[in-house]
Amino acid sequence: MEADISPAFPNPVLDEKFTPGQYTPTSATAFLSPGIPSPTPAGSAMKLYDPSDPSTYPSSPVSSGYDNSSYVVQTSGPLGGAQMHQEVPADLRRAIAIGMTVFSLLQRYSSKSPITLMSSLTIPLNDGNRIPWLGFGTGTALYLKDAEQAVLTAINNGIIHLDGAQMYGNEESLGAAIAASGKTRSSLYVTTKLDKLREGQTVREAFLESLGKLKLDYVDLYLIHMPVAHEGRLKAVWKEFEALKKEGLAKSIGVSNFRVRDLEELLDGATVVPAVNQIEYHPYVVKAAQPVIEYMKKHGILPTSYGGLTPIVRFKGGPVDPVLSSIRERLQKTSGKPVTEGQVLGLWLRAKGIPEITTTSKVERIKEYIATETLPDLTVEEVHAIDEAGSQVHHRVFAQWLDAAKL
Ligand SMILES: NC(=O)c1ccc[n+]([C@@H]2O[C@H](COP(=O)([O-])OP(=O)(O)OC[C@H]3O[C@@H](n4cnc5c(N)ncnc54)[C@H](OP(=O)(O)O)[C@@H]3O)[C@@H](O)[C@H]2O)c1
Repeated sequence: MEADISPAFPNPVLDEKFTPGQYTPTSATAFLSPGIPSPTPAGSAMKLYDPSDPSTYPSSPVSSGYDNSSYVVQTSGPLGGAQMHQEVPADLRRAIAIGMTVFSLLQRYSSKSPITLMSSLTIPLNDGNRIPWLGFGTGTALYLKDAEQAVLTAINNGIIHLDGAQMYGNEESLGAAIAASGKTRSSLYVTTKLDKLREGQTVREAFLESLGKLKLDYVDLYLIHMPVAHEGRLKAVWKEFEALKKEGLAKSIGVSNFRVRDLEELLDGATVVPAVNQIEYHPYVVKAAQPVIEYMKKHGILPTSYGGLTPIVRFKGGPVDPVLSSIRERLQKTSGKPVTEGQVLGLWLRAKGIPEITTTSKVERIKEYIATETLPDLTVEEVHAIDEAGSQVHHRVFAQWLDAAKL
């Protein structure tokens, strides 16, 4: 049976880009956040895309002849693109944009200055918000550990999307890193997740505790971490999530590790459809995840992936290995840049429009993750080949109970 490589959810950007059997990169700019510099053809000047100012709109289609290698290099520091959009008047913004272009070019050609690539690819959600494609997590390797230094390093090296959770026991250190980074709130995207409620505790109380630890006045995304922690209470819990969204305390709300039956239960009577379902997603669970992915696609719920590097980190030697290796070689030749197998897995997720939530203890790896955003697309055949190889075996690492019942 042929693996399904159609987009995993109804995504205006990907539906436009990606029809089964044909994948044409026509509108890379559509992925970018407002205020984030648009990809420009090699050699042309950087321009900030500001939705309130038509003169900054990229001509359409921006990317005919668009070269992935020419993504704008953005300097790190307090004047990130998104921040400029939010807080600086248009004239000044334009002047700063020109200044940044010159500065960025000077940096690019000066031998000593370090250049920081910034994560800038975003994916639309069903509530009108956008989620940065690349997320840096404070679970797994950082679970129950102080995450301040790791998160600060990630932010300083261009990460904007931070994935936390009450269960990870380190929201304070995530908040400390955010504060220490000096970034404005609007330039970062912060997720946290609800754990099991204590006896008599409301969702609102648990949420406010998280918010206090994070030292924030809102989160971008609030998720129910595990359906099994709220057996029989999912609808009531979701009602409280809806209230938090209405108040603007959580810009988007969603779920994690949800099966079809959990989504069905939650959606019955819901006024807000979850924006995302964060699930373990890599080639070795493609087949098992298919029912829930299909259901989510029907309801406009975006899958986000954790554990995406499993084939190279936790199950080496599986049938996906040779496929990754040959795609890596092809991409390296095509792009003229070094490409890793981890990046091929990231590109596989990107091709499906699925954000990658990952983590690392290494600066070089952060750079590698961010650089994935600017590598060329996988071909439809390559996406198929990874799906097919992954479907030969099943390896789930997290939330094993998901396999005990029909997804
Ligand atoms: N919702 C949930 O239930 C749930 C469950 C699990 C995770 N998550 C979220 O997702 C985040 C990431 O999860 P994950 O750790 O499973 O992500 P992952 O992307 O599958 O793995 C990341 C790990 O892979 C290692 N790595 C990367 N490239 C490597 C390579 N080439 N060779 C060897 N090791 C390599 C990194 O270690 P180095 O330090 O060596 O780079 C890092 O620890 C978590 O922190 C959490 O925020 C959510």
